[in-house]
Amino acid sequence: MDANKMDTLLQEQRTFHPPDDFQVKANFNNPDIYESALRDPESYWSEQAQHLSWFTPYESVCDWNPPHAEWFSGGQLNAAYNCVDRHLTDGRKNKAAIIWEGEPGDRLVLTYDMLAREVNRAARMLKDLGVERGDRVTIYLPMIPELPISLLACAKIGAIHSVVFGGFSAKALHERIVDADAKILITADGGYRRGNVIPLKANADEAVEDTGIDTVLVVKRVGAAANASMKAGRDVWWHEISQSTSAAPLAAEAMNSEDILYLLYTSGTTGKPKGIVHTTGGYLVGANTSMRSVFDLKDDDVFFCTADIGWVTGHTYLVYGPLSAGATTVMYEGSPDYPTRDRYWDICERYGVTILYTAPTSIRMFMKWGSSHVEQHDLSQLRLLGSVGEPINPEAWMWYHEHIGHGRCPIVDTWWQTETGCAMIAPLPGLTVTKPGSATRPVPGIDADVVDEEGNSVAPGNGGYLVIRKPWPSMLRTVWGDDERFRKTYFGKFDGVYLPGDGAHKDKDGYIWILGRMDDVINVSGHRIGTAEIESALVSHPAVAEAAVIGRADELKGQAITAFVTVREGVTTSDELVTELKKHVVDKIGAMARPEEILFAAELPKTRSAKIMRRLLRDIAEGRVLGDTTTLADPSVVDVLQAQYKEAD
Ligand code: PRX
Repeated sequence: MDANKMDTLLQEQRTFHPPDDFQVKANFNNPDIYESALRDPESYWSEQAQHLSWFTPYESVCDWNPPHAEWFSGGQLNAAYNCVDRHLTDGRKNKAAIIWEGEPGDRLVLTYDMLAREVNRAARMLKDLGVERGDRVTIYLPMIPELPISLLACAKIGAIHSVVFGGFSAKALHERIVDADAKILITADGGYRRGNVIPLKANADEAVEDTGIDTVLVVKRVGAAANASMKAGRDVWWHEISQSTSAAPLAAEAMNSEDILYLLYTSGTTGKPKGIVHTTGGYLVGANTSMRSVFDLKDDDVFFCTADIGWVTGHTYLVYGPLSAGATTVMYEGSPDYPTRDRYWDICERYGVTILYTAPTSIRMFMKWGSSHVEQHDLSQLRLLGSVGEPINPEAWMWYHEHIGHGRCPIVDTWWQTETGCAMIAPLPGLTVTKPGSATRPVPGIDADVVDEEGNSVAPGNGGYLVIRKPWPSMLRTVWGDDERFRKTYFGKFDGVYLPGDGAHKDKDGYIWILGRMDDVINVSGHRIGTAEIESALVSHPAVAEAAVIGRADELKGQAITAFVTVREGVTTSDELVTELKKHVVDKIGAMARPEEILFAAELPKTRSAKIMRRLLRDIAEGRVLGDTTTLADPSVVDVLQAQYKEAD
């Protein structure tokens, strides 16, 4: 975050108390919960675990051998059973589980009973295709009902799902399939985005070459316009095999609490994405608990999380959290401005959404579009608002509060990560006084703090590293196939203490203000991308000798990608080359990694030990006075670059 923004954030003085009527009815309204959970986290989590259905009770709550934790050992359960089957006999059989809306306007409501049938059918389909307990299934689908159905079908038979966001390129998908050693791929002929057709099947065809995938299960979403071709002996249509597959009740596999539920790839500081491993019992306890605590979920709530299931927010707050809690979850396929800019508000009004969970980047976009789109709709059913993905700036928080929440709805700014599985630092809406821009304090059972270089807790009014001292149920267990990387990345700095990689400030009241990543990971519109991934994409182009990528502050996206590139000898730089390099990055990773700008440099600023000084590149891109340049091997390099950048601006 740039220094000016940080100053404004930390000067924020406004406070908002939970409204009285909200407080009275809130699931969590006894302030003692914080202290008692901190004193005895195991009892707290064990109490929360009672909200799930266990086939076999667990014997111990937590076994902690840093950095490895086991939760609810000895216990057996099934995530799909908890999310679906059990609701057939708890009074929710005909309750809407998923309200789905396609971008073109098609709609579908799946009750818990209908969802159960579809999950049983899909589970049988996977079994018939040879998928067994423990196998990996890669899923590359648009936001259509078959996506949550596929997740739950995997969970039901004990297969490990690995969802790859539909915006990733064929190459990125290939890399993730290979790393997970997946056996089958579930995809669609195409998807819709702003009225255009995304060629998912064509990407999938390219991605599965030279992998262990022997079957591609294809959902027909688009039809002829997708122009998808099917390869005999490998590709099967979902709708064809589903016709001959029974939807009758199917017993759920009894999974051990520590059996893997899913892998989800995320970016780190190296070019290779990490397969974050989540296990069944702990993850589900975390997801389910946060629905009741942070989101104050009640039985008549309609929960709309706008994230894609391709990201962890969609896994936890579109699928596993809401469904395990028996809620109605709203799922929208497309873009918020298609066909008009009031699409979300129309959805909120029509389905009577009571809890809305979205990202600051979207809120800033809505602000830019103006409140008239919102005012056309009756949003009186809304009672709680959530934010996730990046620090929310106080102006966006206030706009959300006034224009969407009409001053009536508490806002829960939730800090968490793919690795943490569920919200970790967030207000409890019936208890916590909020401050615009602060995620407030750790939720009960989470021992998070801000510490200095030595790992000592900083005094109020100071900043440092965000850390989590004790294990929690939904923490990642390891990095798939690379436990050493898990140890080094998350537990390498402070012994036995989890390091998320974010910088944070603790204010005089002990409130935590997340300031952003401290490593070489950037956050573009709430999507996490490693600079090293973009750099390795760039240097794989024959024209590029060297590349350095930084995130510069951006009004709308939070951060935008700027690439500094040196070309190989004999290559002439041009606007065409810029376009080509941008396209090259999109091909390698996906559209979310497209550099906003590419600047050609004769040389990159390096220290005498040849380390690129990204800090200086950020100063240049954000138009600041350059920081210390004395450690540079050749200080004149930055002056040249700065002049060049200004000229290009
Ligand atoms: O930097 C933090 C930021 O997003 C990172 C995690 O990204 P990802 O694993 O993709 O998960 C995103 C959704 C959970 C964090 O390290 N981040 C997420 N939520 C917030 C946030 N930064 C500030 N405030 C938040 N509420």
